[in-house]
Amino acid sequence: MKKNKGQELYRIAKKNILGRTMLFSKLPEIWLPKHWPSYFSKARKITVWDLEGNRYIDMIFAVGQNILGYSNSKIDQEVIKGIKKNNMTTLNCPEEVILSKKLLSIHPWASKIKFARSGGEANAIAIRIARSATKKQKVAVCGYHGWHDWYLSVNLKNSEELGNHLQPGLNPVGVPKSLKNTVYAFPSNNLRELKRLVTKFDIGIIKMEVARDYLPNKSFLKQVKNFSKKNNLILIFDECTSGFRRNLGGLHLNLGVKPDICIYGKALGNGYAINAVLGNEKVMRNASKSFISSTFWTERIGFVAAISTLKEMQRVNAWRKIIKNGKHLITGLKKLSKKYKLNIEIKGIESIVSFNFKSRYNLEFKTFLTQEMLKNGYLASDKFYLSIYHDKKIINKFLYKLDPIFKKIKELENNGEINNYLEGPVRISDFKRIFN
Ligand SMILES: Cc1ncc(COP(=O)(O)O)c(C=O)c1O
Repeated sequence: MKKNKGQELYRIAKKNILGRTMLFSKLPEIWLPKHWPSYFSKARKITVWDLEGNRYIDMIFAVGQNILGYSNSKIDQEVIKGIKKNNMTTLNCPEEVILSKKLLSIHPWASKIKFARSGGEANAIAIRIARSATKKQKVAVCGYHGWHDWYLSVNLKNSEELGNHLQPGLNPVGVPKSLKNTVYAFPSNNLRELKRLVTKFDIGIIKMEVARDYLPNKSFLKQVKNFSKKNNLILIFDECTSGFRRNLGGLHLNLGVKPDICIYGKALGNGYAINAVLGNEKVMRNASKSFISSTFWTERIGFVAAISTLKEMQRVNAWRKIIKNGKHLITGLKKLSKKYKLNIEIKGIESIVSFNFKSRYNLEFKTFLTQEMLKNGYLASDKFYLSIYHDKKIINKFLYKLDPIFKKIKELENNGEINNYLEGPVRISDFKRIFN
C-alpha cells in the first residue's frame, strides 16, 4: 500500500495531541495500523471521503451516533437555520425547553432533565444527582460510563477491575487515590454478586448499561429494579449507546423497567453533540441544590439537532430499519462463516453487530479483513453500527466482497501463514465490553 495523507497527518497528531485522537475508538491502530485513512474530508449518508478524495462505504460507522446517516439533509438544514439565527447569547435558546418537553413526554416516569454535550459528562451529572439524593455515596457499575474520575476510580483497587467492562489493564493514573473503594464493578446478569457488593460495601447507587453485546435480560433488569427499590437504592440506566436503537427512547421503555435516572447520548443528535439526563421527581428534587452548570451546554446546535433527529427517526421508523438491516447482516455473516467453516462468535443488539474469530489469530484476521476491504473501498472491521442506509442491497454487496476474504482467512487459518499477508502491524484491541 502506498503512503497516504491521513497517515502523514497522523504522524503530527502523535506528536501534538495527547492520546493521539480525542476518542479511543478512533485510533488508527484499532483498525489498520500504518494504512488507515485516519481522517475524513467529507461524508454523506454512509460514504466517507478521505483526505485524498478516495471514497469508502463506511460499514463500521463508529460509534453509532449517526443512525440517520452522515450529513442528513433535514437535520443539517435545521442546524444551519439555527446557526444563522445565532448559536448562543445572554438569553437561553427556546429549543432546550422544547426538547425537554419532547423527551419528558416519551418518559412519563421522569420529571426533569439536564442536558450536556458528551456521555462522560452526562454520566458525571447523573452520579452527582444520585449522590445528592442519597446519603450512601458508593456506586456499583456495570458497563462503560465515560472517562471521568468517579468511574475510572474502580481501577484504583486493581487495574483489572474494569477489564471485562472496558479493557484490561486500564491505568487510573491521575485519578485521586482518595476515590479508592468508592465505586465497584459488577458482572452483567449476576444479581448475586451485585447483592453481595451492595451489602458488603454499603452501596447506595447502581449504574448500568441496559444492553451492549446481547439483548437485555428482562428478568435480570426487573430483579435489579426490585432489589434497588426494596433497599432504597438509586438505579441509573446508561442508555448512551443503546438508546434509540430499538424504539424511540431507551430499551427500558420496551421492557417496562423504570430507572430513577436515565442517560442518552450518541444517536440523540445524529452526529451533533447533545446528551440528556432524565430523572424522576424524587431524585431531581433532592438534587436541586447541587451546582451543575456549563457554558456550552446552552448551545443551540445540539437542541435543534436533537429535536429534528427525534422527528425524523419517528417519521422514518428508524429503529425498525436498523433492526432489519442488522438482522440481515447477522444472517449473512453466519452464512459466510458456515460456508468456509470459520468459527466466529457474533454478538450484538441487532443494530450494533460485532464478531470475533474464535482463533488465536483473531486480531491478525481482523487486521487482514480491514486491509483487504479497504482495497475494495470499505471501512470495515469486526464492528458495525447500522444506520438506516445500511440496507439489504448495501449489505449484500458488502458480503459479496467479504466472501473471498473469509475464504482466504480459512486458508490462512489452516496453513498459519497470516503474518505473511499483513502489509503492516497487527491492530490493537478495541474496548472489550464483555456482556453475557
Ligand atoms: C454507555 C456509554 N456511556 C457513556 C459513554 C461515554 O460517552 P462519550 O464518549 O460521549 O463521553 C459511552 C461511549 O461509548 C457509552 O457507550
